[in-house]
Order: sequence, then structure tokens, then C-alpha cells
Amino acid sequence: MQTPYAQTLTQIQSSPQTWFITGVSGFIGSNLLETLLRLNQPVIGLDNFSTGHRRNLDEVKGRVSPEQWAGFRFIEGDIRDLETCREACQGVEIVLHEAALGSVPRSMEDPIFTNANNIDGFLNMLVAARDAKVKRFVYAASSSTYGDHPGLPKVEDRIGRPLSPYAVTKYVNELYAAVFADAYGLENIGLRYFNIFGPRQDPDGAYAAVIPKWFSAMLTNDPVYINGDGETSRDFCFIDNCVQANLLAALTRNPNAVNQVYNVAFGERTTLNDLFHMIQNLVAKTRPEAATLQPVYRDFRPGDVRHSLADIGKARELLGYGPGFSVREGLEKAGGWYVGFFSDSL
Ligand SMILES: NC(=O)c1ccc[n+]([C@@H]2O[C@H](COP(=O)([O-])OP(=O)(O)OC[C@H]3O[C@@H](n4cnc5c(N)ncnc54)[C@H](O)[C@@H]3O)[C@@H](O)[C@H]2O)c1
Repeated sequence: MQTPYAQTLTQIQSSPQTWFITGVSGFIGSNLLETLLRLNQPVIGLDNFSTGHRRNLDEVKGRVSPEQWAGFRFIEGDIRDLETCREACQGVEIVLHEAALGSVPRSMEDPIFTNANNIDGFLNMLVAARDAKVKRFVYAASSSTYGDHPGLPKVEDRIGRPLSPYAVTKYVNELYAAVFADAYGLENIGLRYFNIFGPRQDPDGAYAAVIPKWFSAMLTNDPVYINGDGETSRDFCFIDNCVQANLLAALTRNPNAVNQVYNVAFGERTTLNDLFHMIQNLVAKTRPEAATLQPVYRDFRPGDVRHSLADIGKARELLGYGPGFSVREGLEKAGGWYVGFFSDSL
């Protein structure tokens, strides 16, 4: 028996549709692009390169055939501009909306800029998608929406109060999406990502996520900092699982599955101390000196939740989601990519 995901992949290949990915030069967007081009789909992509990189698009180009790459049309532009969103949505059947400014600390430092990109931009995209009569609007929501709710594992309908401007923006996205479903019939699905990681996640900059930051530090001989005692835990989820959730959400014909939000995670907790050792063991294969490296423990980061773990039952039941990659398997794949990325410095 084929899995729901295998069936979805077959369905996509047998009836191509026009996809539109916002944030296409970012980490998740470029991975969605690669998968869809490999499935011979026509794809439109939009990005303003605020946190994404041209090198991600170049890498995808190198990993698909020239014919598949010819199916891609890139628009350099900004979702804060409604006309740009309208033009990009013309003839589109499915939107995968990834463009946003990530990072809780960034939003603490500049809430107005985060709001403009994540709320104004989101609303522009909803209006453009509604008016272009797209069939389905799938968007990146966030586990930060659980805020201060103490329950574990996190279940979709039990959320707390947001703990950062970023979390507010992601929650407002869900509220707007629900209104656009009810008021205008725009079919949509929100995916609450939990710590997604994998190839092309940016290792540079002040707002880098923990996994790319630690691969980078260990490969380039910089100190590795752990905020707190290292027993903080997260539900880390490999990118291929996230891509799967997007494609299932885009294609589901289950009427109960649309106009909903879902946790997208692996469904297991990993502590920062365990993560440190897993990454260290992988890096030591390339840089044996890394085997003796000790992390530097420092203060807990204000606003960080202690533990995060998703209940993925809803996505399993309604979308047929079944994450294929464990954290360990994902880290091996990610590690291979970071070794290549930092090969000049080794
Ligand atoms: N990576 C995670 O663990 C995670 C967790 C929760 C939610 N998310 C959400 O997933 C989405 C993708 O995140 P990512 O990790 O790939 O981050 P990313 O920074 O790599 O990708 C975001 C992309 O959006 C683009 N972008 C930002 N503002 C834009 C604008 N105004 N107009 C056009 N393009 C714009 C950026 O240039 C970048 O290429 C975001 O919405 C993010 O909030 C990610």
C-alpha cells in the first residue's frame, strides 16, 4: 500500500499545476522549489533577498535538470507591495507562502519591521490570492503561537498568550486566514512549524538558528554556546518532513482537512545537550579536533520556553502526514551539507 505522501507525489506528477512560492530563496522556500521542480511542476517564486540568498537558487539550479529549471520563473520583489503580489498570483493554482521575517530576537529588536513583513505582507498575499482565485493557500505558521501555554505536547486548539512580536504576527496570520476562509471562501491551511532544520538553513548572522549555528561553530573552530543548562528541549524537524506536510496540505481532498492549522514536527523532544553531542559526533568525522570540544554554558535567553514538543496526531489523521526522517537522520544530511558549505574554511 502506498503512503498518502507517495500517492500525493504521484498525483502531482500526473496532473501538474502552477505553484507560487514566496520566500523562495530562503531555507524552506528553496527546498520546496527543489522538490516541485524535480516533480516537473511549473513554479513561480518571489523573494526580496532580505534574509534569503541567490546562492540557494543557484544550488537548486545545479540539482535539477535544465528542463526542470526552465519551469521556474523568479520575481525579485516584496510582499509588502500589493501590486507585486497580484502580478505574481496571476494564473497560480497553489500558493505556498513562506516569506516572512523569522527570529524572535529580531522581532524584539524591531517589531515594526517584523509586523510590516509578516502581517501587512501576509494580508497582501491573502488579498492577491483571493482575487486571483487560487485553489489553495498554504502558509507558514509557527509553534511560537503556543506562547505561554504550559501544556505538553502542544495540541493545535490549546494556545497561550504570545511571548514576542514575532509570535503575535504568526498568530494574526492564522486569524486572517480563518476570516478569509469564512468571508471569501479562500481555502487555506496553516502549518505551525517546530524548529525546522536542514540543508540551506542560513548558518550566518546574529539570528541564525541553533543547528546551523553549531555546525558552523564546530566546523570553523568557534566556541559553541548553550543558553541555560542544556536541558532545554525542542522538537527538531528535518526539512523533508516539512516539505511533505506542505505538499499534503496543498493537495488534500479531505474536506475536513482544509481551513485548519497543523503542527509540523517530528514528535520527539531533543535536549540541547543531546543535540550538541549528535552534532559533535558528526563534525568529528571531518574535524577530529571537534571530538574534545566543550560547550560554553551561559544564561538562559529571556523569553525562551523550556520545553517544546508537538502532538502531530492531527496532521497524521487529517493529512496523512508521516515524518520520514528522524532528528538523527536529518542531522546526518544537514551535516553533509554544512561540511560542503564550510569546505573552504576546513
Ligand atoms: N525555520 C523554522 O524553524 C521555522 C519555524 C517556524 C516558522 N517558520 C516560518 O517559515 C517561513 C520560512 O522560514 P525559513 O526558515 O525558510 O526562513 P528564511 O529567512 O530562510 O526564508 C524566508 C524568506 O522570505 C524572504 N522574505 C522575507 N520578507 C520578504 C518580503 N517582504 N518580500 C519578499 N520576500 C521576503 C527572505 O528573503 C527569505 O528568502 C517563515 O514564514 C518563517 O516565519 C520557520
